[in-house]
Amino acid sequence: MSTRIYFTEYGGPNVLQVGPEELPPPGSGQVRVELRAVGVNPFDWNLVAGVLKDVAPLEFPSVPGSEAAGVVTEVGPAFEGFAVGDEVIWSGFTGGYRTEAVVSAEQLTPVPVGVSLEQAACVPVAGGTAYSALKQLKVGPDDVVLIHAAAGGVGSAAVQIAQAFGASVIGTASEDNQDYLRELGAFPVTYGPGLAERVRAVTEEVGPVTAVLDAVGKEESVAATVELLPDRSRAVITVSGLHSQEAGIAKIRLLDGRVREAATLAAEGLLTFTISQRFPLIEAAEALEASRTGHVRGKIVLFP
Ligand SMILES: NC(=O)c1ccc[n+]([C@@H]2O[C@H](COP(=O)([O-])OP(=O)(O)OC[C@H]3O[C@@H](n4cnc5c(N)ncnc54)[C@H](OP(=O)(O)O)[C@@H]3O)[C@@H](O)[C@H]2O)c1
Repeated sequence: MSTRIYFTEYGGPNVLQVGPEELPPPGSGQVRVELRAVGVNPFDWNLVAGVLKDVAPLEFPSVPGSEAAGVVTEVGPAFEGFAVGDEVIWSGFTGGYRTEAVVSAEQLTPVPVGVSLEQAACVPVAGGTAYSALKQLKVGPDDVVLIHAAAGGVGSAAVQIAQAFGASVIGTASEDNQDYLRELGAFPVTYGPGLAERVRAVTEEVGPVTAVLDAVGKEESVAATVELLPDRSRAVITVSGLHSQEAGIAKIRLLDGRVREAATLAAEGLLTFTISQRFPLIEAAEALEASRTGHVRGKIVLFP
């Protein structure tokens, strides 16, 4: 018997419930996976809160969770591609907050040798989004990339991937995360009033900002981008809104193959996720509360 975290009405993290479920055997093209680590993302609590209820209402009961890693325990009939015992990364829209899952093999990526399941569970959203954004920006060795919200899941992955692509990085975070950004190799700057001037002071050392990834989408971050980046086509945002749209800042486009590419960077030692908080799966509501603060360093991971 598998265990799932589910909700039957929209609301805060306290609407989450824990319960058993009987999974069907895997059908054609499907595998059964024992999940060992599940990544937590801001999308999860937004989903539970009903962020999509007008555009794409959920069917209840619904299970949050867009990323996980685990081990294949059963494969569907006449299936080739994955075998029992394979370590896999699962990436999907919802449904990851479970101890076991029956999923389409198309949603799976092999865990590269040398990458732990805990790290692998963080690859799809933070790693895949950061990779997509930096490819969209065509970041290379001549770039100085400004990353807003550089201490979060997407931001901390982007700091590392941008450097792997040869760029220099200026990252914004609170005072508490300045040393953390320095450890990641970025030039840290605190956000808040005077942000653009502080970034400009750093550019005297590293050169002018040539590309921006905004992973917070605040009025302030958008204004700083507008002030610091003459070529607005080299800015991308993960949280599009009125300010960014008026400024002509493009929304992130998630690339096919991003999970495999980000996993490869992890295997090469170029991308490591800082797991700042770990929770048992059955404490998913506490994990969502922690994510909802908006001040997670790196990633939160659930353990089934
Ligand atoms: N469109 C997509 O496909 C897509 C994909 C992934 C993520 N997203 C969205 O992108 C956003 C970031 O995702 P995430 O997973 O990185 O979130 P996260 O891990 O929760 O990010 C938290 C980080 O944001 C920083 N932060 C908070 N307020 C800030 C501010 N005013 N200026 C700069 N940094 C600030 C915090 O730093 P301090 O603690 O130092 O304040 C913290 O490290 C979320 O809104 C998420 O929903 C969109």
